[in-house]
Amino acid sequence: MLGLSKEDLSLLSAIETGMKTHEWVPSFVVSELSGLPDPKVQFRLGQLFEKKLVEREKMHYLGYRIDFAAYDLLALSDFVKKEKISAFGEKIGVGKEAVVYEALGAGRLAVKFHRQGRTSFKHIRRLRDHLEGKPRVPWLYSAALAARREFSVMEKLYPAVSVPRPVARSRHALVMELVEGPALNRITLSDPENALELILGEVAAALKLGIIHADLSEFNIIIDDSGPRMIDWPQAVDADHPHAQQLMDRDLANVLRFFERKYRIEMPLDRARQLVREKASEQAKVQEKVQEKKTKNGSETRKEMGKEREREMEQENEQEALRS
Ligand SMILES: Nc1ncnc2c1ncn2[C@@H]1O[C@H](COP(=O)(O)OP(=O)(O)OP(=O)(O)O)[C@@H](O)[C@H]1O
Ligand SMILES: [Mg+2]
Repeated sequence: MLGLSKEDLSLLSAIETGMKTHEWVPSFVVSELSGLPDPKVQFRLGQLFEKKLVEREKMHYLGYRIDFAAYDLLALSDFVKKEKISAFGEKIGVGKEAVVYEALGAGRLAVKFHRQGRTSFKHIRRLRDHLEGKPRVPWLYSAALAARREFSVMEKLYPAVSVPRPVARSRHALVMELVEGPALNRITLSDPENALELILGEVAAALKLGIIHADLSEFNIIIDDSGPRMIDWPQAVDADHPHAQQLMDRDLANVLRFFERKYRIEMPLDRARQLVREKASEQAKVQEKVQEKKTKNGSETRKEMGKEREREMEQENEQEALRS
């Protein structure tokens, strides 16, 4: 599907590993890490360089490194191997620090590749020269960290909060359910009062689980048949964060400003805060009831799904351990 051979992928993955200890990975290290003979490695790396999948630098040795293009491919091949996606489609979104593509798997999916860290790379590198023992490729770490954080937050929130169903994560990329609908800023709602109410309900539901979005706006809310769906969670903070209240206020203020500007609905921040608090405590009661029911007739399928996810996490952890 990706037009790369297994060997190419293992070379890219060897460079990825080598970058933990080398800024530019020598081909003999690539050879050691991939288990492929050096002459073959050199030939293949030359071809990958032509395809712009590796960068190289001539110093006293010829060193290689990968950039996001190859990192994307490594994550994608992982998703394919784990049978999370079967086809890869068009770009559907570009944000400040991510790019999102459509894909197919169990239904229509979205694949989000984080891009954090790359732009300030040179700056960080200058800083880092004085900081021994820091990771050599901060972009790779910060992008993977953002994806990890976003995925774990979504797993915590789904399905109690209306977020896309999280499906899988590899490196800096995550697979999730594709939400089919326009962003809040791109449609005219027939019942904006109701939509605002529902959005505050989702903010409350997330708060109930101890999470504050911290970048909420009309751009990060998609409206589909089931109502508002909240996306874009890498910067989310826990409710015990020292700036939790300010971040929550900012989220609410963004939403209120939008509804005031576009629909002339005026709701003071205090009122929104109060509504969120009320809804959160209402939901606490509902959730208690649901929990009671769940424990009474704990469905086998749900248990099985939980087990499968556990196994996947174990595998992921093993792989991470191998990589580090
Ligand atoms: N699950 C999804 N279903 C449908 N479209 C999505 C989904 N996730 C993201 N998108 C689209 O991709 C765009 C960018 O995604 P997202 O908002 O998550 O990242 P971002 O804006 O780049 O993040 P950041 O705020 O860090 O810059 C969204 O505005 C939306 O159009
Ligand atoms: Mg966004």
